Amino acid sequence: MFAVLKHLFKLQFLIILIAVFAGIYYPQILEKIKSLIFEISSSSDNEPIAVKFSAENDIQLFSKAALAKFNGENEDEPIYLSILGSVYDVSKGRKHYGTGCSYSYFAGKDASKSFITGEFQEFDENSDDVMALKPSEVLSLYDWKKFYDKEYIFKGLSIGRFYDKNGAKTEYHHKLDAIANQALEDKITSNKNLEAYPSCNIEWSEKTGTRVWCTDQSGGKKRDWIGFPRKYYEAGKEDYRCACIETSELNSPNLKPYENCDPLSRTCFYKVE
Ligand code: HEM
Repeated sequence: MFAVLKHLFKLQFLIILIAVFAGIYYPQILEKIKSLIFEISSSSDNEPIAVKFSAENDIQLFSKAALAKFNGENEDEPIYLSILGSVYDVSKGRKHYGTGCSYSYFAGKDASKSFITGEFQEFDENSDDVMALKPSEVLSLYDWKKFYDKEYIFKGLSIGRFYDKNGAKTEYHHKLDAIANQALEDKITSNKNLEAYPSCNIEWSEKTGTRVWCTDQSGGKKRDWIGFPRKYYEAGKEDYRCACIETSELNSPNLKPYENCDPLSRTCFYKVE
């Protein structure tokens, strides 16, 4: 009897010790358990992994292999595609993305670059590498993503270039966001400039060379003034464009008159040698 009590006491002591230990190291233990669970669930590379993003939201993370299963080859399975690391169910567009259809190339993968280059033949591990695109092209790619947000069902994120295995945005993605934001600002500025400095009409003939001229609606902007053609060097751009300029703006430093053209003529001619 005494021996049994002694054992029970030892057991109780051990439990208290474990509880104290767990209390002190609880966060580390929790992290360890979480990473263990993650390792176990990602050991099967073929299935999407559900990761808790917030109390209400689980999000599916797709490895390349898990995404590839939704490539449209099986008529009974949905079709998924990924753009900028976001995965969409595009099954309702099966006539575009189904096997043998015009855009089947995009099914079951992230081929973000091809949305801009239009190259739908060869897919490789760089088909989602969009860093070499021009800023304006990066912006167009973000517009494509907006299209999928609007038209199709968001299913989760693909692990790789744009999101890591915890579903966090990669450095690469943050860098791309910055490029897209800058491109958007430049576009807004450029549009404002087009309003303030509307483009000239332009035509070319072998005999006379290039002719630029202003009317009260050149550049697609109906207005109550006509303006004079000037070479307009927009900030941040190497080249100039022909803009119609109001009298009050003629001395602006980023405007240059056309050579051999009266500064107050509505039409100028020039030849590119
Ligand atoms: C960079 C080049 C291009 C890309 C990335 C592209 C991509 C796409 C995609 C993804 C769709 C399916 C949209 C959806 O889910 O509803 C689509 C549809 C379509 N594309 Fe393209 N496309 C390109 C060039 C072209 C060109 C050059 C033409 C015409 C000559 C064209 C004609 C069409 C047509 C007619 C549709 C179907 C529209 C509909 O039925 O709703 N595309 N394109």
